[in-house]
Amino acid sequence: MTTDLSPIDKAKFVAAKQATRYVESGMKVGLGTGSTAAWLVKCLGEMVRDEGLRIKGVPTSARTAELARDVGIQVISLDEARWLDLTIDGADEFDDDLNLIKGGGGALLQEKIVATASDQMIVIADISKQVETLGAFPLPVEVIPFGWQTTKTLVEEMLVGLDVMGRSASLRMNGDAPYITDEGNHILDIHLNRIGNARQLSLVLNQIPGVVENGLFIDICDRVIIGYGDGRVEVRDINEGTTEVERFDFLQNDNIFTEIGD
Ligand code: 5RP
Repeated sequence: MTTDLSPIDKAKFVAAKQATRYVESGMKVGLGTGSTAAWLVKCLGEMVRDEGLRIKGVPTSARTAELARDVGIQVISLDEARWLDLTIDGADEFDDDLNLIKGGGGALLQEKIVATASDQMIVIADISKQVETLGAFPLPVEVIPFGWQTTKTLVEEMLVGLDVMGRSASLRMNGDAPYITDEGNHILDIHLNRIGNARQLSLVLNQIPGVVENGLFIDICDRVIIGYGDGRVEVRDINEGTTEVERFDFLQNDNIFTEIGD
């Protein structure tokens, strides 16, 4: 039941639930990855089952694909969809311009491709993800396994000339072995502390041979829906320049959770 959720899960849930208002029958929807995006997929599955919502979902990871199928969402590939009406995803950080750090869950490459191939991207997040300046969260960078140590050295050397406050990169691990992404790559997490010029950093990183993509999403997100543990949701729209606040009624929506579970 939603009343039994921790404040952070309530915040994620209300953001996800609010985002479903932007989803209409007939849409092709990019489905993000992570714990907040998982709430969204469950809420959409509920709407498919109970309200006759007809959507085609393009997942951004194998685990989101599995969850989407489990809850009854029709899953198609990006190649089948070609272009999407909307992508809804979580984020590790967002700033006032709705620039993002993503990839904490290791899915940044598919997430960036899918979000870029969408008319709109909505980020759903709890308020802890809001930052003044990006960079406290280590920046994930997807690199090919071949020569990754050389790539790591090149990344660290390149950072010397840039406006950042740290430059050590660590290889993401999964137990004793390097983490492997859905595309068969590794991830370097770069500890920058503060990113002065995210646009420049993103461009320069992607010039390094061996780097496939980085977790900076610049000018991709249109709207952020911020959830709070007390049920408030705030919707910020960067194109309209608007902010709206609403309160979500948990009691009214308790049945959702008794039915779809966690
Ligand atoms: C996965 C991501 C996630 O969206 C990000 O890590 C946020 O996850 P969560 O909603 O679990 O906090 O970028 O690659």
